[in-house]
Amino acid sequence: MGTDPLSSSANGASPYGGTAVITFVNEKGGVAKTTSCVNLAAALAQRDCRVLCIDLDPQANATTAFGISADQAIQREAHCLLTMPRFPLERAIVPTKIENLDLVPSSARMADCDKTLVLEVGREGRLRGKLREFYRSVLTDKYDVVLLDSPPSLDLLTVNALTAATHMIVPVTTKFYALKGMALLGDLVATLHEQIGATVKLLGILVTMFDKKTALDTTIYRLLKEKIEREYGNYMFSTIISRSVVVSEAEAGGLPVLMRDPDSAAAGAYRGLADEVVGRLAAEARRPASTVPALAGASAK
Ligand SMILES: Nc1ncnc2c1ncn2[C@@H]1O[C@H](COP(=O)(O)OP(=O)(O)OP(=O)(O)O)[C@@H](O)[C@H]1O
Ligand SMILES: [Mg+2]
Repeated sequence: MGTDPLSSSANGASPYGGTAVITFVNEKGGVAKTTSCVNLAAALAQRDCRVLCIDLDPQANATTAFGISADQAIQREAHCLLTMPRFPLERAIVPTKIENLDLVPSSARMADCDKTLVLEVGREGRLRGKLREFYRSVLTDKYDVVLLDSPPSLDLLTVNALTAATHMIVPVTTKFYALKGMALLGDLVATLHEQIGATVKLLGILVTMFDKKTALDTTIYRLLKEKIEREYGNYMFSTIISRSVVVSEAEAGGLPVLMRDPDSAAAGAYRGLADEVVGRLAAEARRPASTVPALAGASAK
């Protein structure tokens, strides 16, 4: 990837040889975490970036969005990664139909992880440990970026994602309660930082499913932008993902919208998001680490 900031040389602060590990997180369901994870992955892969997606949600929506079936997932899935101490990351990876893009699939079995890991020491850092091992090994072919799709809760799976990740993207919809979970998320990140040395940073807040023809969406968007800038800083992505039926049609067809309908506005928007993500990581790599807060304004209500 040359001088692309997702490559190892540019992001030296990452514990994975410089690779950015980005988790999509929001306790609220249905805000396009999975859709954004899948389509950002596709957009980065199209820029010749080698991408690994890890589906950490028992709903396995990212897995099906890439057209991977439950049969293909058996014995090669995130469940094995989290519950079996000696199961290496490389054994859980399956290729997708998209060049440069591989997946660690999920299945309904992921819902057992909480119970299986309840008495295990270091359960919050299981994924982080597997990723570190993978990046330390000289035998594995490395990815330039790893994207994690987490479930709509702050459970052990999301805790594993936040502990493993170097960055997080928080998708929100233009609703009055859009930022309701941010303070709780900030508190969780602060606790993980103190107790187990998690270093995840906010990469950006992404507005999704926006309808510009709806006056209420436009008003809430403006209020949301003001609130985020006031309480968190310059964290709102300028890319806005509009509501469009092609996005859900693509998902149902087992392909990201970038492949299924590359000329659509939605595909263009996710390519724009990829540009911004690359730009933000590049800017961060140029700043001293101490000026990048874990979650700016985390205590803001
Ligand atoms: N831009 C969009 N336009 C129209 N529909 C969308 C758009 N983005 C996502 N959707 C649809 O909205 C629904 C929720 O999206 P998605 O599954 O990505 O949300 P999520 O936050 O991952 O949900 P969960 O919290 O359940 O994991 C899906 O049916 C998806 O196809
Ligand atoms: Mg999801």
